[in-house]
Amino acid sequence: MDYKRTIIITGGAGFIGSHVVRLFVNKYPDYRVINLDKLTYAGNLANLKDIEHKPNYAFVKADICDFPKIQELMQAYHVDGIIHLAAESHVDRSIKDPFTFARTNVMGTLSMLQAAKVYWESLPEGYENKRFYHISTDEVYGALEMTNPEGLDSPFATKASSEHHHAYGTDFFTEDMKYQPHSPYSASKASSDHFVRAFHDTYGMPTIVTNCSNNYGPYQFPEKLIPLFINNIRHHKPLPVYGKGENVRDWLYVEDHARAIDVIFHRGKTADTYNIGGFNEWKNIDIIKVLISTVDRLLGRPENADIDLITYVTDRKGHDMRYAIDSRKLQRELGWEPSLQFEEGIEKTVRWYLDHQDWMDNVTSGDYQKYYDSMYKNR
Ligand code: NAD
Ligand code: TYD
Repeated sequence: MDYKRTIIITGGAGFIGSHVVRLFVNKYPDYRVINLDKLTYAGNLANLKDIEHKPNYAFVKADICDFPKIQELMQAYHVDGIIHLAAESHVDRSIKDPFTFARTNVMGTLSMLQAAKVYWESLPEGYENKRFYHISTDEVYGALEMTNPEGLDSPFATKASSEHHHAYGTDFFTEDMKYQPHSPYSASKASSDHFVRAFHDTYGMPTIVTNCSNNYGPYQFPEKLIPLFINNIRHHKPLPVYGKGENVRDWLYVEDHARAIDVIFHRGKTADTYNIGGFNEWKNIDIIKVLISTVDRLLGRPENADIDLITYVTDRKGHDMRYAIDSRKLQRELGWEPSLQFEEGIEKTVRWYLDHQDWMDNVTSGDYQKYYDSMYKNR
């Protein structure tokens, strides 16, 4: 079949990437979608079981830092679009091992950019109808102050905002804000964002960057707050709350992020930046209480049976106080809005983890890493 477009999605076996791959494979049967992933500890092909036999889907096991390999793939598949999600993504790991973050997030992004440049510049039409879309985080902007610890009604509430419309200050991250990353993770993402913009400004590559707030939903690796705590509550294990649990994060359901990526990949303005978020701020401790009451209710346990699992532990080093995204530009210019209200999203997420204990057990036992060998190795 002649495909209308061929795109590489890097990091497609990870949490957000798997939702993006699923959306593109199902929604665009006339696109060839290549999932390029190294399958680090965070990559899990079982996340894509439901689409792996679709004719317009292909999986390639490769490291984004392997420049010759990426060049070869660009040529072999005639790639005209890249959605780049592959990264090391966990702040706590970056504090222990910053080198891996610089290698993957900075050098890996540079290798993707340079391979795209060499291939696209070799074509008669050059950069026409090409797109390099880089997925980044709100953490590059640094941390906001919590000027109102009691919480305010969010002035810009969207469908994703919780019923309480929390906002813990009156300032938000906007697209023109200065970068002030604090953790090795956010420093590496900031650096990669700069390289992407430099490839537009220097070579004219049609790039685009988006910065999204914290995502939650199915298939998230259980080292991150929400899946880790759901699993611990289920098994009556302690819940390690960093510091006082007062830090604020702005949460968006992962499928709403994937829909935003679709809209921006197709209609976003070249060389532009869009912030993605749903005006939905929560203190960690409040989210943890919602998780406890939801898990207990769904498992038929007495109300708050597991509240004593909350265990305050030493704070994360350099722990950013508050993240809050202003995504009004994306809403105004491209008409994107979240589809799911936070309370519905959390209920759906908790249910998904409780119903997919097999997925969780595979991840926690390490068995998921054998999936590639059984599915692909001898093909
Ligand atoms: P994740 O850790 O779940 O998945 C990362 C994926 O990248 C994995 O499949 C892994 O195998 C792959 N990968 C890692 N190193 C690689 C390499 N060298 N070569 C090829 N593949 C490699 O991450 P996620 O949470 O899905 O995040 C995806 C992207 O979105 C990241 O760029 C992250 O910075 C960004 N982001 C995440 C969030 C969030 O809340 N999770 C929010 C905003 C932005
Ligand atoms: P996390 O899911 O790691 O995302 P990020 O650091 O990228 O925001 O953490 C979300 C918040 O939860 C963050 O403020 C750190 C806190 N946290 C805990 O209190 N305990 C934990 O065990 C984890 C993993 C996170």
